[in-house]
Amino acid sequence: MTKQPEKDYSIYFQPPSLTDAKKRGKEDITVHYDFDIPEELRELGKDKFYLIQTYGCQMNEHDTETIMGLLEQMGYRPTDDRKRADIILLNTCAVRENAEDKVFGELGHLKHLKTAKPSLLLGVCGCMSQEEAVVNRITTKHPFVDLIFGTHNIHRLPHLIKEAYFSKEMVVEVWSKEGDIIENLPKKREGIKAWVNIMYGCDKFCTYCIVPYTRGKERSRRPEDVIAEVRDLARQGFKEIMLLGQNVNAYGKDFEDINYRFGDLMDDIRKIDIPRVRFTTSHPRDFDDHLIEVLAKKGNLMEHIHLPVQSGNNEILKRMSRKYTREHYLELVAKIKKAIPDVVLTTDIIVGFPGETEEQFEDTVSLVKEVGYDSAFTFIYSPREGTPAAEMEDNIPYEVKVARLQRLNDTLNVFSKKSNEKLLGQTVEVLVEGESKNNPEVLAGRTRTNKLVHFVGGKELVGEFVHVKIVEAPTFYIKGELVKAPVKS
Ligand code: 5AD
Ligand code: SF4
Repeated sequence: MTKQPEKDYSIYFQPPSLTDAKKRGKEDITVHYDFDIPEELRELGKDKFYLIQTYGCQMNEHDTETIMGLLEQMGYRPTDDRKRADIILLNTCAVRENAEDKVFGELGHLKHLKTAKPSLLLGVCGCMSQEEAVVNRITTKHPFVDLIFGTHNIHRLPHLIKEAYFSKEMVVEVWSKEGDIIENLPKKREGIKAWVNIMYGCDKFCTYCIVPYTRGKERSRRPEDVIAEVRDLARQGFKEIMLLGQNVNAYGKDFEDINYRFGDLMDDIRKIDIPRVRFTTSHPRDFDDHLIEVLAKKGNLMEHIHLPVQSGNNEILKRMSRKYTREHYLELVAKIKKAIPDVVLTTDIIVGFPGETEEQFEDTVSLVKEVGYDSAFTFIYSPREGTPAAEMEDNIPYEVKVARLQRLNDTLNVFSKKSNEKLLGQTVEVLVEGESKNNPEVLAGRTRTNKLVHFVGGKELVGEFVHVKIVEAPTFYIKGELVKAPVKS
């Protein structure tokens, strides 16, 4: 094997500039339809095994499906056994510090594996690899890593693997170029539910959030491409799709030739014969009346909306740069509830934003009570280097933030329980997903509103729609009894 010349990282690594990011324009979005893996790379993974560890959000999980698709087209096969793996990739998340800590901890463990098996190829991808400080830390402190590639470089993986096999240096390819959409990437999907990207990136720049920098600018897939993919999934027999985007309500804003927004897309997908359609994540600012009107038609559009609020206090919302007020958010909630009376709302909330006072936190608790969410993801604010909020003065002790999180969760649990109890005695439609985690006799499935239901039933019901009567309603799931199965398929 010939040794490659010394690598100049600057050629491969153009870190995103946080100041430049805000100046980015809409002009240069290019959709590529010509993706292909060259013949000579399709043999690289023959008789080899891969393992991917995924951290973070559903966008990352879906990226992992693409990476799996690429690897399998190169001949690799999956394994859960780290010792057997010839390539291990960490698909990372940068949204909070503890997600990053986990990855660095994992790299420590992987070092031993690599020492025992030098032919093992170790790679880091996902949002962390878009951060300059992370890449510098890996190149200096974890030099045994073979490959780092960014969120805009996934389609380059076959080439990068080849380069990593033949190179003695770490291969780093992180593009800040973010105006591209690569269609026709292979995806390994399993089961009855499938994720579908409708857009990439985020232009909202909430002051606490790293995502607009790691995922680049907002760019929407063409409607015809999304629709063709959903039709294909329906043909393949998938029962549920989850449309993905960091801010799905901004879908279509970047189209210059057509006036076609998220409500239009949902209205078109509604007509496709796929039983259940969900979407995540919404931004209250862009949630328009047309979308509400379309969602109210129901059918295969589920009556569950995840609507991150982050805080119930106007001053904090302003400093978060959320671009709506508490009043605007509550008005939107009222409109949605009026149009879809049985809607279930869930949310994301950050406690302990820099300088958040007790009164400001109480505004969040009161908003939670006013909306009556069924559940929520709640987080303690985590400073992300390079974001505006990380520069804000924060005089709130960590213990106070932990206590607030606890109080908030206690309030949320009361509402979860209440909403689950409302279902007692009712018969609901459940899509059966599989056996429950702790008991193979018990099946687990989801209602239209995405509530987890456990009930006794045979494995042949997995993937079917059944009717279940709710008999018990603890906080985090509900128990039911099978009434009738299957109801449709
Ligand atoms: N600290 C804590 N939580 C955060 N989120 C995003 N950035 C941060 C941060 N720096 C939360 C928001 C978002 C969810 C995906 O993660 O609530 O909606
Ligand atoms: Fe982050 Fe805000 Fe964009 Fe969501 S909308 S990804 S919180 S910047």
